[in-house]
Amino acid sequence: MIIIGSDHAGTTLKQNIISYLKSKNIEYMDINEDNKENDDYPDIAYMICKKVADSNNKGIAICGTGIGVSIACNKINKIRAANCFNTYMAKMCRAHNDANILCLGARVELDCNVNDIVEAFLNTEFEGGRHIRRLDKIKEIEKNNKGGI
Ligand code: RB5
Repeated sequence: MIIIGSDHAGTTLKQNIISYLKSKNIEYMDINEDNKENDDYPDIAYMICKKVADSNNKGIAICGTGIGVSIACNKINKIRAANCFNTYMAKMCRAHNDANILCLGARVELDCNVNDIVEAFLNTEFEGGRHIRRLDKIKEIEKNNKGGI
């Protein structure tokens, strides 16, 4: 299941991606179907994270730049959110970082069609191997820095 949501800046892009998911029969949940004029990206990011952490779900979080949602999502343990502009980044964030949330910027010029980025994210598996050691180090950082450094 894909958990998707956007702030006000990303509503149109979200709807376009939802059309794409529907056309591919990919199951999704729109976390804020009732997009409002001033949806703050941290609220949307948090709602998506709650459905992604501790699950097999993946998320797509959208704001104007993709930066705000990625900063907010990455505050949550077990979330690895990646702001991607092209298919290479989308593939690599899955293959090497096991990213579970794709962040997108609706006001950013992407290097390709956004659906290609979504497809690369959804269709690339984590490679495991040496990357497990690195993800374990991120888990250690999460565990040891709850109250700040
Ligand atoms: C909203 O105006 C904008 O700040 C937000 O969508 C995002 O780009 C933040 O990072």
